[in-house]
Amino acid sequence: MTTKKPPRRARVPAKRSTPQAPAASPVPGDLPLAGSPRAHPSLGLGLFAQGRWTQEDERRTRDTVARAIELGLRWFDTAEVYGAGRSERVLGDALAHSGTMTPPAFVATKVWYEHLRPSVLRAALLGSLQRLALPKVDLYLVHAPNPKVPLDETMGALAELAREGKVGSVGVSNFDVEELDAARSALGTTPLAVNQVRYSLLTPDDGEAVLGYCRDHGIVVEAYSPLAMGLLAGRHLDGTGPPAELRRQDSSAFGPTRLPELLDRARGLRKLANAENVPLASIALHWLACRGVAPLFGATRPQQVDDIVRAWAVRPSDELLERADQVAGGRRA
Ligand SMILES: NC(=O)c1ccc[n+]([C@@H]2O[C@H](COP(=O)([O-])OP(=O)(O)OC[C@H]3O[C@@H](n4cnc5c(N)ncnc54)[C@H](OP(=O)(O)O)[C@@H]3O)[C@@H](O)[C@H]2O)c1
Repeated sequence: MTTKKPPRRARVPAKRSTPQAPAASPVPGDLPLAGSPRAHPSLGLGLFAQGRWTQEDERRTRDTVARAIELGLRWFDTAEVYGAGRSERVLGDALAHSGTMTPPAFVATKVWYEHLRPSVLRAALLGSLQRLALPKVDLYLVHAPNPKVPLDETMGALAELAREGKVGSVGVSNFDVEELDAARSALGTTPLAVNQVRYSLLTPDDGEAVLGYCRDHGIVVEAYSPLAMGLLAGRHLDGTGPPAELRRQDSSAFGPTRLPELLDRARGLRKLANAENVPLASIALHWLACRGVAPLFGATRPQQVDDIVRAWAVRPSDELLERADQVAGGRRA
């Protein structure tokens, strides 16, 4: 991950409505994807699987994808490095066993930041396609910037792969505004379609830093860790101390100095959600959707997909989202 700007909390729209009643509006629709005849689904399942890849984990992840397909989810996100290729294999396998899907799956994978030289990048994509058992991916993302490789080279290679039809759309991940600008220039006429960043009600920094730029340039913002690694689905909130699994995270967002405060605020949000009889995850997901952002949640078992799809179907009122924003930002207990 790269430069992180100081947090500036965005405001949800000022429109007010009754807090108790979830608005009747349906879940947000697909988002336009620059230069593509395909739209970008508004909610996706990520297959990092928290880095757990025993055979048993693999089986559960395969079942989780199958459940997601059954429930109508279509956007699946993986990466060549997830489980050293296991994630792509599991996804490919689940897709192969799913039969014809209408609409079809929207498959995204990522090239690791150490593979950004053109010849290595091409080989990385071919490896991903083989593991996914697909002739092309709908979206190919640069996993993270690498200052040691000129962006012109990487973006030129991606544009070429897009022209060859092996890649539907080109995107990046963990890019700040300056890097986005450089990537767009380097791509020339090929649109930069997506930036995937960490963004959630509890960890807004990365998302908000790039949101304005992406809006202005028609770039879809995908939010990873939208549930703050489960905290916003109620996970880890009832233990006596910071959970070991989160303490191990090598990430400034969930590091030991921030974790106690995040747990506190997540408990405050859960209290608010319970009082309003709305799932906590509904608040987390629609807080993002209100900003035009597409949440990419993780799940490691089918039941979690059931819960999240159910939560997605409940649209909290704007007033509740505003109150949640205040609790998450520490401006309200
Ligand atoms: N581009 C990048 O650099 C980058 C970085 C990170 C992630 N990502 C992508 O974003 C995806 C999502 O990230 P994430 O896994 O951190 O997202 P997240 O949605 O914030 O957290 C997912 C975790 O939350 C827990 N969870 C999910 N549903 C739950 C439920 N109903 N009840 C209780 N707990 C629940 C599960 O934890 P347990 O498994 O422990 O039960 C699950 O693994 C990844 O899979 C990956 O595709 C990209």
